[in-house]
Amino acid sequence: MALMSADKPPKPGTRRPRAAVKGKGRGARVGGRPLASRVKTAKGRKTSSTRWLKRQLNDPYVAEAQRLGYRSRSAFKLAELDDRFRFLTKGARVVDLGAAPGGWCQVAVERTNVLGHGSNRGRVVGLDLQEMDAIAGAELLQGDFLDDEILKSLLQVLAGPADIVLSDMATAATGHTATDHLRIIGLLEVAVDFAGQVLTPGGAFVGKVLKGGTENDLLNRLKRDFKTVRHAKPPASRSDSAESYVVAQGFRGTPIGDIGAE
Ligand SMILES: C[S@@+](CC[C@H](N)C(=O)[O-])C[C@H]1O[C@@H](n2cnc3c(N)ncnc32)[C@H](O)[C@@H]1O
Repeated sequence: MALMSADKPPKPGTRRPRAAVKGKGRGARVGGRPLASRVKTAKGRKTSSTRWLKRQLNDPYVAEAQRLGYRSRSAFKLAELDDRFRFLTKGARVVDLGAAPGGWCQVAVERTNVLGHGSNRGRVVGLDLQEMDAIAGAELLQGDFLDDEILKSLLQVLAGPADIVLSDMATAATGHTATDHLRIIGLLEVAVDFAGQVLTPGGAFVGKVLKGGTENDLLNRLKRDFKTVRHAKPPASRSDSAESYVVAQGFRGTPIGDIGAE
C-alpha cells in the first residue's frame, strides 16, 4: 500500500485498508492535521527514550495505527506488501511468525475473511516469544520458534497445510550490524525451512530481511522453490531502518505429509 489519500481512511475489516497518511516525518499529515508534536518534558528520561518518544509522537503511522485500532504500526507494512503482491486471499490459512504485538495478525484476519460469512473463511495462527493479548479470529501461541517442542505444538495447532507463511521475526537489535544481520538471517532460514514443510502448492512466503537482501544461498533456494521472489521495502518501513522484506510466491513443492501428526 503506497502512502494513500487522506480522503479514504482504511476501515478495519475491509479488503484493502489503506493508510490515510500523507508525507513522512514532521511534515506528514493525517486528515489535513499536521502531526508533529514536541516532547515537552524529558526530565528523568534517557536521551534514547526521549528520542524514541519524540519519533513515536511524530510518526503518522503510529497515529493512524492507534486511530484504526491496530496493535502496531507494522500492520501497515503487511497491508502495503499485500496491496502490491496480493497474497492474502479470502479463505487463506496463514501462519504469522514473530506475531507480537499483533498488527500483522489483525491485517491477516481482515484480509483472509476469518470472521466473515460463507465458506471461504481464512485461518490465522500467530506465534511469538512474547505473550499476546487475544485477537478476535486469530489463534495465538507463545514460545520460541527455534524450540523443537514449540515447533511441534505449532504444527499440531495448524493440523494441516498453510497457504501463507509470514515472518516478521526479529531479535532485539544489539547495535552491532553484523551480529544483527546474522541473527535475522538465522531466523529467516528456519522460517523458510518451516514454509517448505507446511506450504501448499502455489503458497507464499513473506519474511523480514536486512539491508543487502537475502543471502545468496537462501535466495537461490527460494528461487528454486517459488515461481517469483521479490524484495520490497514498504513505505511504512522507516527509511532509516535496514529492514526490507522478501516476498516469494507460487510455492512449487508439496507440503510434507502428516503435518501435526505425532
Ligand atoms: C518486529 S516484531 C513483530 C511485529 C508484528 N509483525 C506486528 O505486526 O505486531 C518481531 C517479533 O519477533 C519475535 N521473535 C523474535 N525471535 C523469535 C523467536 N525465536 N520465536 C518467536 N518469536 C520471535 C519478537 O518477540 C518480536 O515480538
